[in-house]
Amino acid sequence: MSATRFSESVTGGIRDGVLVVTIDNAPVNAISAHVRQGLVKALDHAAALVMVVGVVITGAGRAFVGGADIKEFGKPPVEPTLPEVIERIESYSKPVVATINGAALGGGCEIALACHGRIASDKATFGMPEVKLGIVPGAGGTQRLPRLIGTVAAIDLIGSGRTVKSGEALSLSLVDGISADHLDAALSLVHDLASEPLRRTGMLEVPAAESAAVDAAVKKVLSKARGQAAPAEAVRLVKAAANVDLKQGLADERATFLRLRDSNEAAALRHVFFAERQAGKVDKLEGIAPRKIETVGIVGTGLMGAGIAVAALTAGYRVVGIEQTEDAAAKGRERIAGILDKAVQSGRLAATARDECLARLAVAANISKLAAADLIIEAVFDDLAVKTELFRRLDGIVRPDAILATNTSYLNPDEIAAATAHPKRVVGLHFFSPANIMRLVEVVDCKATAPDVLASALAFARKLGKLPVVCGVTEGFIGNRIFSAYRREAEFMIEDGAAPEQVDAALEGYGFPMGIFTVYDMAGLEIAWARRKRQAATRDPQARYVEIADQLCEAGRFGRKTGKGWYDYASGEKAVDPEVTALIAAARKAKDISPRSFTPNEIVDRLLRAMADEGAALLTEGIAARSSDIDLVMINGYGFPAHKGGPMFAAETHKDMTP
Ligand code: 3HC
Repeated sequence: MSATRFSESVTGGIRDGVLVVTIDNAPVNAISAHVRQGLVKALDHAAALVMVVGVVITGAGRAFVGGADIKEFGKPPVEPTLPEVIERIESYSKPVVATINGAALGGGCEIALACHGRIASDKATFGMPEVKLGIVPGAGGTQRLPRLIGTVAAIDLIGSGRTVKSGEALSLSLVDGISADHLDAALSLVHDLASEPLRRTGMLEVPAAESAAVDAAVKKVLSKARGQAAPAEAVRLVKAAANVDLKQGLADERATFLRLRDSNEAAALRHVFFAERQAGKVDKLEGIAPRKIETVGIVGTGLMGAGIAVAALTAGYRVVGIEQTEDAAAKGRERIAGILDKAVQSGRLAATARDECLARLAVAANISKLAAADLIIEAVFDDLAVKTELFRRLDGIVRPDAILATNTSYLNPDEIAAATAHPKRVVGLHFFSPANIMRLVEVVDCKATAPDVLASALAFARKLGKLPVVCGVTEGFIGNRIFSAYRREAEFMIEDGAAPEQVDAALEGYGFPMGIFTVYDMAGLEIAWARRKRQAATRDPQARYVEIADQLCEAGRFGRKTGKGWYDYASGEKAVDPEVTALIAAARKAKDISPRSFTPNEIVDRLLRAMADEGAALLTEGIAARSSDIDLVMINGYGFPAHKGGPMFAAETHKDMTP
């Protein structure tokens, strides 16, 4: 099969009378201008050759087509547009079959939808993740997908942006077949289709759907939208496909796509997309190989340790949990098994996968079992004496090349490392609870951490499917330092005249799932109180300090679990408590502060500014490598709305972003 080059990224060769067109635009075959141009040239070429019965489109490497080229967004358009290419495919006189060898996402999925047949390999994945970028599909996805798989399934896929594997794609009728020899299967499908009228997706009727099922699917999408525009628009367009003709539907979709593409929400989500791909990249680790990790020791199988164990087990590691007594070890094992069971019940894990996980798990009361571990993570009580003592003991038990990781939230890992004989092998792995669910891991590069130890910690976190962000040593690392600044500013505003419920409402209106005082009550107020008491002696007496949270704790108001905190929960619901209002009024009076009012916009502005200023300090101190890392920490660990891009991004743009 001699190859013809149609553009720098598109080639084709004739096989069995079919032009096999390959898109090769590493790393993910995104549809850059030269891909679009190459595809059109390939179609022209095949149209002119009488001996060619049809066309197969496939991707080189691991991806079919990863979507429109996001890097082109915001740049002047280059012809032909993707909708033009897709229209050309759908209306082509000869059969065009997509051979989906890997990810077919966004525009990639739209190309596949416009083809006259689709054959997937078992590695293929399909999705329209546009809403995750603050946009809607812009090349026919909202109009063709419901025609192929029905309105309800299309609302689910496009509204959530989730990706499906080939098995689910087949059961949804998104593909015609799955084959290990997908190219051969596609060639034979082209020949089959050549003798029949072509099935053009855009010409199909949208299958009738029950309105209750449509409403339920819409409700599910909108309940997760948290003030974002794209999901509602996507749902609107998919629903419209059943009622308007293709041309009108496509025009509406394109206009919506272009409008959203230029929105602040889309800019923020694009920032997050590229931030995630940057995260965990460290210049000094170039060429440094991570150590091999197969067995992970976890000391402490409480809530945090059990969550880490589940994350490691489901990623395929052997796990050795360590407790102090046989009884605690049995409970630890039960806790881990319980989390795995829940994952099975909710459909996130297959029962066979759970059994495999349990077969790779041992929980013992004998610390010498850690001799076989490649990486040991401590998840014990956050107390310096406890942790240094443990690490000293581990020195005499673990292999010399084993890595020791501390999961401390507030202690100084350099001090923990200094207590060991080999500080170079100590690193911080700060997980967020529940560790099997939360994506964020702060990977703490301590003073003495060896480069290959850091590289290993990053590789481990990635294998767990986490988002690792590298961070230097500072109290609270990136997240808790910013959170403290955020909390401090929120309390200043309370003292100055805002009510907790006003601050929370402003934050929720901005897109946080919960306001800061509601979060406080959920988490419990006593741990931060204990820390404040410890720090009292060293606190700068000149710095402004708000006593209200301390006074709540002194009154036994530790949050939701005690029925009272910043709010009252006696009725089972969160309610404003006149006692708290009076306590705040008294605190203002004691400092001679006459309360002033705050607008929601001002509240959000001040909180963003406080977070961004603290973030700037972290950058200056070299604790965070890039401001986008700070954004990711706050989005993935602290509920900052992704569609606002994180505090560093948003502080720059907030004034433009508010209506
Ligand atoms: N455009 C431009 N660059 C892209 C891209 C895209 N659509 N998708 C990925 N890349 C880049 C990444 O930025 C990264 O670059 P880097 O190496 O310089 O950091 C590189 O490709 C590799 O990406 P990943 O690290 O994410 O690679 P993985 O193998 O882990 O994942 C993937 C591959 C599943 C394809 C993943 O990259 C992905 O989800 N991509 C985005 C898919 C997407 O959102 N597509 C929709 C685009 S919008 C659209 O199509 C609009 C249409 O309707 C008109």
